[in-house]
Amino acid sequence: MELTEKKDIQDRADIARLIRAFYTHAMADELIGPFFTEVAAINLEEHLPIMYDFWENLLFQTGGYRGGMMQKHFALDEKRKLSAEHFNRWLELFEREVNAQFQGPKAEEAKRRARSIAPSMQIKMNRYFLPMSWFEN
Ligand code: HEM
Repeated sequence: MELTEKKDIQDRADIARLIRAFYTHAMADELIGPFFTEVAAINLEEHLPIMYDFWENLLFQTGGYRGGMMQKHFALDEKRKLSAEHFNRWLELFEREVNAQFQGPKAEEAKRRARSIAPSMQIKMNRYFLPMSWFEN
């Protein structure tokens, strides 16, 4: 039996622990860190609760996230190109943090959702080729 059995993601407090640690690593990352610290220059105290809402809604259907994430990333992409390399690093750091802290069906779901959202964001970045109805979220 494994001695350090991890628990699954169970509530907003768990999501907060996951996202805060992820942001510590993402913001310190040499490849994607500057998007947070320079390009968007986010106010963490305002941004983090939005991220908690987003993930809480994905994992527990709380309805808390107001939407509009694509517009934020389009704006980022216009200031500094978001490439596949950036998305891959984002995913790598996210998965690493989920695995470091949690295990179970919700942990797997979080990784699965991130893996499916990231490429769909990349497709939407090439928005000139797509119908407007794709950009409502
Ligand atoms: C290249 C990878 C990514 C980078 C560098 C990045 C960076 C950022 C930054 C800087 C913001 C704040 C924008 C602002 O408030 O002006 C943001 C917002 C956000 N990001 Fe990302 N992101 C990436 C990928 C992702 C992925 C894969 C997801 C989801 C799985 C995601 C979910 C979100 C959400 C939900 C917000 C909040 C949008 C809002 O304020 O409503 N991001 N991102």
